[in-house]
Amino acid sequence: MTTLVTGIGELTTQDPERGTLQDAALVIDDELIAWVGPAASAPAADERIDVEGRAVVPGFVDSHSHLAFAGDRADEFAARMAGERYDGGGIARTVEATRAAPDEVLRALLARRVAELRAQGTTTVEIKSGYGLTVDDELRTLRLAAEVTPETTFLGAHVVPAGTDVDSYVALVTGEMLHACAPHARWIDVFCEPASPHAFDGDAARTVLEAGRAAGLGLRVHGNQLGPGPGVRLAVELGAASVDHCTYLTGDDVDALAGGDTVATLLPGVEFSTRSPYPDARRLLDAGVTVALATDCNPGTCSSSSMPFMIALAVREIGMTPAEALWAATAGGARALRRTDIGVVAPGNRADLAVLDAPTHLHLAYRPGVPLARSLRSPTRRRLTRR
Ligand code: NIG
Ligand code: FE
Repeated sequence: MTTLVTGIGELTTQDPERGTLQDAALVIDDELIAWVGPAASAPAADERIDVEGRAVVPGFVDSHSHLAFAGDRADEFAARMAGERYDGGGIARTVEATRAAPDEVLRALLARRVAELRAQGTTTVEIKSGYGLTVDDELRTLRLAAEVTPETTFLGAHVVPAGTDVDSYVALVTGEMLHACAPHARWIDVFCEPASPHAFDGDAARTVLEAGRAAGLGLRVHGNQLGPGPGVRLAVELGAASVDHCTYLTGDDVDALAGGDTVATLLPGVEFSTRSPYPDARRLLDAGVTVALATDCNPGTCSSSSMPFMIALAVREIGMTPAEALWAATAGGARALRRTDIGVVAPGNRADLAVLDAPTHLHLAYRPGVPLARSLRSPTRRRLTRR
């Protein structure tokens, strides 16, 4: 079954050969893009959808989220707005709530959150474990996450749980827990943050990442969120796909990122929600670093699931142009997940698209908080375009 999507006022392809097209059309063949070009020369298809001058962009790629959790920490958010600092300590509260939630409750929470993302234009989401912190709870979190996305990340090394010491916990994470979880994960991640009394230092993070790599997992790092530290350079040295947060960077960190192939994923919703200084995207872009944007959607540091909100923050607060922010939220996210089949609208790629109730991509930042974006994936394509 082929579908012609026509009447596209502005099509952002993120394909260097095609760039941004006006009055465009594309043809979808089942799950894949079959053709992209000017509406006037579009081929025939089995069905036709007219988006009536709306802008179409690649579906957002949210390469960093923690959607598999139970409970709520809105009280911590309120305390931070009143001046309290974030140090990672609240993670323990979510661990307690998540362990107490039966599978069917966690499954329903995940489904609701994934639907919330999709309704805002996100077509790929990475989901981390990290609120279980026992072999059984990490394993069930990853099994449930794998029901909704192929981009699952084992984050047993989120914090050191109460009642254990860091060395014994790292031994568990790199031993029995990794063995149980690796078949259900594509990635391994570690919260490398010497500035937090709950997270892991550079040596422990290296141990975790090397064990994950030996188990066949790709590497991701939470680094340099709360202060300067070894996370960014470790990620680049070990060839991690992405190092996320990158809020406190030295010149050496920026040089390392510029010289490596690790994506710097910025999460400006975290600084918004923790009242912390924002990262400096301009400095990274000017140095030639590949930058992605993601939500980090989690109950502690950023409860927003909205990629358009991240784009608006990136433009308003961290020095990105609207086009750079959109690239980072689509093609950049795909790079951070080492995916070449998403994030770029080109023949052969997945037909993961977002339609905006607006004439241009500029409106994503120009109209913050307005629900402009909806994902346009094949099973729901008709419903989403008929508003
Ligand atoms: O990416 N930094 C570590 N993990 C999350 C926060 C988790 C939480 O506070 O529940 C983050 O910010
Ligand atoms: Fe995170």
